[in-house]
Amino acid sequence: MSAGNNFRFITCSVLLIFSYFAENVANEPTPIVMWHGMGDSCCAFYSLGAIKEKLNASIPGVYVHSLKIGDNFLEDVENGYFMHPDSQIEMACEKIQQDSQLANGFNAIGFSQGAQFLRALVQRCPTPRIKNLISVGGQHQGVYGLPNCGALSNNACDYIRKLLNHAAYIDWVQKGLVQATYWHDPLNEEEYKKNSSFLADINNELVINETYKTNLLTKEWKVDIYSMSKLRVLFRTVLEKHPIIGNSVVYGTLCVAAEASQQTINKKILNKPSQPLDLETIGRYGIYGTGIGGPLLAVWYRYLDKKLPGATAKVVVKKMLIDQFLFTPQLLVIFYVTMSILERKEDLLAECKSKFAHTFLANCLFWLPGQAINFSLVPSIYRVTYVGTCSFAWIYILCWLKRQDVASSKPDDS
Ligand SMILES: *[C@@H]1O[C@H](CO)[C@@H](O)[C@H](O)[C@H]1NC(C)=O
Ligand SMILES: *[C@@H]1O[C@H](CO)[C@@H](O)[C@H](O)[C@H]1NC(C)=O
Ligand SMILES: *[C@@H]1O[C@H](CO)[C@@H](O)[C@H](O)[C@H]1NC(C)=O
Repeated sequence: MSAGNNFRFITCSVLLIFSYFAENVANEPTPIVMWHGMGDSCCAFYSLGAIKEKLNASIPGVYVHSLKIGDNFLEDVENGYFMHPDSQIEMACEKIQQDSQLANGFNAIGFSQGAQFLRALVQRCPTPRIKNLISVGGQHQGVYGLPNCGALSNNACDYIRKLLNHAAYIDWVQKGLVQATYWHDPLNEEEYKKNSSFLADINNELVINETYKTNLLTKEWKVDIYSMSKLRVLFRTVLEKHPIIGNSVVYGTLCVAAEASQQTINKKILNKPSQPLDLETIGRYGIYGTGIGGPLLAVWYRYLDKKLPGATAKVVVKKMLIDQFLFTPQLLVIFYVTMSILERKEDLLAECKSKFAHTFLANCLFWLPGQAINFSLVPSIYRVTYVGTCSFAWIYILCWLKRQDVASSKPDDS
């Protein structure tokens, strides 16, 4: 799914939202509830935190409650992937009911999957008192296929879609992965209705739930829908206008998401009893990704594309070799040294020396083909996003290999 989740939030919301609420500003502005999207959290300074500030600045005195699903930043992000929507909505419902400042009603803004969940909250949560709901990129009919898959060939997209299609409706995937609960295969409505554990229910596709219907109809409210395609255009525009900042935020977010989800698998799912996540390490990846890796990659690819324009076989091979053998070794050194500095190690080069050869070899095996795709098929403004997404996939491959190992040595552990 789309890499630039957080990004959309900054970009799209501001303009659209204020013009909308401005007319409602009377003496006491109506409070606002926000629900973030996948991979995001309630309050990060680069996404909903920024929107909250903007809202506060343009509607003086407005009360904004950005829903946090969990007790801290990380749980909030993690729950966006792994806590079933039913439980998330229950939690949000409770938080809203307990917030006395919302007692006289509020406006709501949902982003991406958060928009779906807010709509479901109206249907399920007693007295949510929502006056207006703005749905920014909410997938109210679910998702199918791969958004932004256009850069790859159609065959590859099709193949991945089939794979996802096969997995999404399996019972344990439905229970464990939020995004599977709104996977909607339009070519197989029956299977979708039977197996979707969330969307088919709130869309009243299995049985008509009269409570849902009444709750939706009796509210004096309005739904505004901004579609994903408009958001994609905005995402692109921002990357074009602010390539370095934009790419750094995207890359940093992907680094944090990769490390956080890898830790979740290793510490919470594979390890029994589960251990707490290591927040410091996740923070270090955030600093490296946003402050160093992201800007370096953005500047590097811009330079490379300027020096070697085009995507002929000769140019692609040249770029691959330069990238792999001139740039990558330096980037790996920078990565290990930065991490050692952030870890306050005594010998800043020790880890780099011991791991460099091994890492570089693995890196070549994965990245040479990966970069062949990058330089031949991916438009240049998406290069850093692509590299970030591949890095994410790479970490998953490592995790998966690790799990195979555990399973075969301890067969009765599953
Ligand atoms: C909201 O804006 C006011 C100034 O208009 C400022 O004093 C206040 O600290 C802001 N509140 C938040 C939560 O940012
Ligand atoms: C309808 O939805 C309400 C609220 O979630 C639930 O309590 C009730 O059991 C549902 N009824 C049916 C027939 O599914
Ligand atoms: C979907 O649900 C049906 C019945 O509940 C079950 O037989 C089927 O195996 C499920 N599909 C998948 C892919 O697990």
